[in-house]
Amino acid sequence: MAVRSIETTGSAETESLGAELAGALRDGDVVLVRGDLGSGKTTLVRGAARALGVSDPVTSPTFSIGHRYRARDVTVSHLDLYRLGGLQDEDPALLADYLGAGRIAFVEWPEDDAGELSDARMRVTLSHRGGDRRYVEVDEMEPASEGTEPR
Ligand SMILES: Nc1ncnc2c1ncn2[C@@H]1O[C@H](COP(=O)(O)OP(=O)(O)O)[C@@H](O)[C@H]1O
Ligand SMILES: [Mg+2]
Repeated sequence: MAVRSIETTGSAETESLGAELAGALRDGDVVLVRGDLGSGKTTLVRGAARALGVSDPVTSPTFSIGHRYRARDVTVSHLDLYRLGGLQDEDPALLADYLGAGRIAFVEWPEDDAGELSDARMRVTLSHRGGDRRYVEVDEMEPASEGTEPR
């Protein structure tokens, strides 16, 4: 596992970091994105989704737990589990449409790492550092299997 920490100033820098992280992601990967409200989780996901080829506007899921966007080679899923407060009481089928083969999934605010979220490829934690500054910590796990080139 590799850990990096980066400080960004302004949303554009967090979007660029998201885009850079996207370069290491592969079909089926899950990225957990944690941090307080307004810390930049959705901003980072937006940058990553753009880099993966999403052209639709990437906005916070409000009326459902997630959005799915058509990207270049995969579907990009963006989930916000903030209101769920954890997955332990939820039907596992809830996530089935968003995770797995053919998708790269970004999950905001997972309270726990239960079930399918436990083998996330990356964990990104954002925190406020005053004004437009954010501290971003990235834990990256080795890909499960070799043989596929990163996108
Ligand atoms: N360095 C930064 N990184 C990310 N967002 C920033 C930064 N500086 C200011 N912002 C602003 O903070 C807000 C972050 O919102 P958002 O990405 O929706 O957060 P979250 O999804 O964590 O609630 C946006 O209004 C964005 O413009
Ligand atoms: Mg958000």
